[in-house]
Amino acid sequence: MKIKELSIPESAKQIIIKSGITELYPPQEEAIHAGALEGKNLILASPTASGKTLIAEFCALKHMLEKNGKVLYLTPLRALASEKYEEFKKYTTIRKKSGRKVSVGISTGDYDSSDPWLERYDIIVTTNEKADSLLRHRARWIDEISLIVADEVHLLNDAERGPTLEVVLARLMQVNPDAQLLALSATVKNAEEAAEWLKAGYVTTEWRPVVLKEGVLLQNEVQFKDGGARKIEKPTKNPAINLAVHMVQSGGQALIFAGTRRNSVSLAKKAATGMKTVLSKPVKRSLTRIAGQVRASGERTRISELLAELIQQGTAFHHAGLSGAHRRIIEDAFREGKIKVLTATPTLAFGVNLPARMVVIHDYRRYEPGYGYYPIAVLEYKQMAGRAGRPRYDKIGEALLVAKTEDERDYLMESYVLAEPERIWSKLGVERILRSHVLATIAADFAHTEQGIYDFFGKTFYAYQYDPQAIKGVIARTLKFLFEENMIEVSGENVYATKFGRRVSELYIDPVSAVMIRDALLSRAPRLTDISFLHMIARTPDMFPKLRPYSREIDDLALFVDEHREEFMFEVPDEWIDQIDYEEFLGEAKLASVLDAWIEEMTEDETIERFRVQPGDLYRLIGTARWLLYASHELVRLFGHKDLLPHVTELIERIKKGVKAELLPLVRLEGIGRVRARMLYNSGLKTIEDIKKVPLEKLTSLPMIGPKLAKKIKEQIGGFVKSREWKKLKRGKEWEQKALTGYSRKSE
Ligand SMILES: Nc1ncnc2c1ncn2[C@@H]1O[C@H](COP(=O)(O)OP(=O)(O)OP(=O)(O)O)[C@@H](O)[C@H]1O
Ligand SMILES: [Mg+2]
Repeated sequence: MKIKELSIPESAKQIIIKSGITELYPPQEEAIHAGALEGKNLILASPTASGKTLIAEFCALKHMLEKNGKVLYLTPLRALASEKYEEFKKYTTIRKKSGRKVSVGISTGDYDSSDPWLERYDIIVTTNEKADSLLRHRARWIDEISLIVADEVHLLNDAERGPTLEVVLARLMQVNPDAQLLALSATVKNAEEAAEWLKAGYVTTEWRPVVLKEGVLLQNEVQFKDGGARKIEKPTKNPAINLAVHMVQSGGQALIFAGTRRNSVSLAKKAATGMKTVLSKPVKRSLTRIAGQVRASGERTRISELLAELIQQGTAFHHAGLSGAHRRIIEDAFREGKIKVLTATPTLAFGVNLPARMVVIHDYRRYEPGYGYYPIAVLEYKQMAGRAGRPRYDKIGEALLVAKTEDERDYLMESYVLAEPERIWSKLGVERILRSHVLATIAADFAHTEQGIYDFFGKTFYAYQYDPQAIKGVIARTLKFLFEENMIEVSGENVYATKFGRRVSELYIDPVSAVMIRDALLSRAPRLTDISFLHMIARTPDMFPKLRPYSREIDDLALFVDEHREEFMFEVPDEWIDQIDYEEFLGEAKLASVLDAWIEEMTEDETIERFRVQPGDLYRLIGTARWLLYASHELVRLFGHKDLLPHVTELIERIKKGVKAELLPLVRLEGIGRVRARMLYNSGLKTIEDIKKVPLEKLTSLPMIGPKLAKKIKEQIGGFVKSREWKKLKRGKEWEQKALTGYSRKSE
């Protein structure tokens, strides 16, 4: 079937054809036959790279251009949301019936808002978590959604991300039963079951546009699924690296998945040694430029330095310890074909399009603290393998596992290459996860009676797969907890959220976190300091990422706890009696001291050295801390502890910028971060008044301040500024307001 023959508006076809797509892939054709364009609910379960997104685009165009509809596109990750947002922007030249152009919006942060501004967009791309929070705020425009697309829907199976997706889908079906639902999934065994739950039809195929040759590597021989084999040369000791280098020599690029960050780094180093002879001069030149970009973005650390060095040799590693900026630079450079061998942890396995002609799955086992090693699921293997051979980039793809022995080779062949993906199972039925969703159901007016709550959860995938009764016990326990903690009240048949409960639901925090914060604020510490508040949020179950103390840190942390004993809002467990609790407390103390180090201006490199916390973790930690401090601020207000407001507000601002309080006026200037602000302060320019008085030449003579920045600074504080901006700066308390916006939760 040709794009030309589709029943979508001509203007849309033109854009698709212009992007190089003229004919439908077979799974796409099947989806059309199954009624995708007639508004039918569908699950599309087809292999990686089979073009699932395009079906969503057809449907979206149909809705927007012919039915004046609105589209919600759900993704599990922020990075994926941005990729899709960029892709959909190509449609913004099309005019709708109203004469207005198609518009695309994205929203992935700030969980305490209904984002009314999203209303003006035709396609709204969000993460599942953001969608959940929008539903809790009862964003009005949700009623106008006529098409819901859920991407990577097999993640229902994921213990962390699955339940949110499941609740969001169940809620959307509840509030907006007429909307069309399109779920995009990897091939899974029980697509039919998921489809029944969603009252949808389903299309499953095994078709891929680019042949993916799967196999296992042992020493210097690859054995393929189809029985073929190939020998490779052995320039280095590591067979996976030899394979990758071979791929680069024949003009391709390779992506190596490692099980841990550490392995991804060591593999990248090994790959670099194998790459010496294969890079051309022009490629080397652009690699030097990219390495420069890495060095110039953010603070210099041992990680950014190593990364830059490896990039110069045509390789890089990609993991969650890197800052978002560095990850983007690497992804772009790999897409442009400059970086030849990329090693990565599995977060890069979801839905992204990369030019990897070869994927090597180096570690098929994962380590879980307290549990040991376990082999990954076939589904995860398929996701990783599926990054190879993407249609825009390559004509053929190879995905290989690495075995050390013949037995292992047979095992891998059988258990992954020839195996079928598993069934997916709902992970919703756990109290830890349910309590926040049960509260939200009441607080956001999705149900008003106990029966209503059971009815709602009776429509989840969990209830569908197991038994509605199975979830009832957990919900009853949760209701009791919420009642006892004053988040809900009961009147006859009816259940209502209290003011507290409603706010907790909107703030998108775990009710248990809210209880901790509420009680801490009441009991207070004998001496209230930054540590008091930082430890308070570190203790909540919402704190993420969790940091486990290393054995060599234990003594220092114990000392830290002793020194700050008076400042904690919670009692320190007895080291000898409650050993487990005490160790947990040390973990919280570690989190608090990392955050404290950040606002005391410790450099990122020192943070890595002292705490083994890498920039990516640090930024995620800061993001979570901002969100939880904001939530604390709101609870401080709610419970009338006015005396605490200034301290919490200042902390939010300091966490945001990573500075001591004395630098706050300076970092409020655009272009001035923590490092420059410290430099200005130490050169005697301590206040805005000081900077106003200093001559422009003096300013430019300071390190890290060029003429452009100097002018910008002067303009901001009253040189050549517009009167409107000037007034804004003069308004003394303005920053206090600013401090309270733009926080965010987990970033991926
Ligand atoms: N009919 C088509 N003709 C040519 N290229 C296509 C066609 N449909 C999709 N593509 C291209 O195929 C690539 C893969 O598509 P897409 O990202 O939608 O895959 P997917 O099925 O979502 O895979 P994954 O499961 O990995 O997310 C994209 O670059 C897309 O532009
Ligand atoms: Mg996809």
